[in-house]
Amino acid sequence: MDRGMVVFLGALLTFSSSWLGLVVFPFWQLGAEQPYQKEEGDTPYPQPLQGLALAGRKVYQNNGCMYCHTQQVRSEKFGGWWDANGEYKTGADIKRSYGLRRTVSRDYIYDNPTMLGTMRTGPDLANIGVRNPSEPWHHTHLLNPRSANSWSIMPSFAFFYTREKIAGSRSDKALSLGREWTVDPGYRWRPSAKQWDAIIANRGNDLVSQYTTGQPAAIDIQTPEGKERLLEFWLTTPEEEYQVIPNADAESLVAYLLALRKAEIPLPEAKE
Ligand code: HEC
Repeated sequence: MDRGMVVFLGALLTFSSSWLGLVVFPFWQLGAEQPYQKEEGDTPYPQPLQGLALAGRKVYQNNGCMYCHTQQVRSEKFGGWWDANGEYKTGADIKRSYGLRRTVSRDYIYDNPTMLGTMRTGPDLANIGVRNPSEPWHHTHLLNPRSANSWSIMPSFAFFYTREKIAGSRSDKALSLGREWTVDPGYRWRPSAKQWDAIIANRGNDLVSQYTTGQPAAIDIQTPEGKERLLEFWLTTPEEEYQVIPNADAESLVAYLLALRKAEIPLPEAKE
């Protein structure tokens, strides 16, 4: 080793230049970013998360949502799509209503950790609180994404929910879903042919009268077609004795999703 000094200086130069370029320079450039106020008196944007939404960020982080969902909106220059005339356009994210503009570093000043994500197995969630502000929708979707979109490949997060016997009256928080989603949370349940025959033998006429109230088309449960139609109806009505309730994690996670409202306020540095 007769070039020890050269190797040492080379290594020093390599590491210090990357430290300067990747740590010091970005910190100097972006470290002092402040929330934006267009005019004095405007509410500054962004706002730090608080309360339930802040707790929900931890749940999002712990459950690996960012492995399938990004929180970054690409600029109008990126993201190709073809319009009805077969013409190639860019700005797919904005077209899909992922945000009004691209996201910039200022959108993330209160995010720690910043969950930009790397892969879009599912849609971008940077502004999901604007795109879908329905709390019940998010709960039913988390319990089982197939209840919202039959083709969904998102895993179900049924462990955030408890199925319990109703004591007294149904809770306000209970998910309003047919029994096919609640009998075995996380799965889509159907009775076996034998079970269904037993139910029809027991309560078939009650169920028919429930179904035909206000509906002219009566059901003949003697026919296989009638039995099948009654089954469809029965599966899509809630269980009478049980309810599914979100636990604390589910409630904070949904509060977090509803608080995701990035890229909705124009910022001077996000021009395109
Ligand atoms: C294995 C990948 C995967 C994981 C992990 C995952 N998702 Fe999804 N997610 C998807 C896919 C695919 C869709 C689109 C289909 C659908 O709506 O279910 C989706 C859709 C969504 C939507 C609806 C978005 C819209 O634009 O309508 C929300 C909200 C959502 N996911 C939240 C979450 C949360 C919160 C977590 C973590 C608890 C999570 N996802 C974990 C794949 C995933």
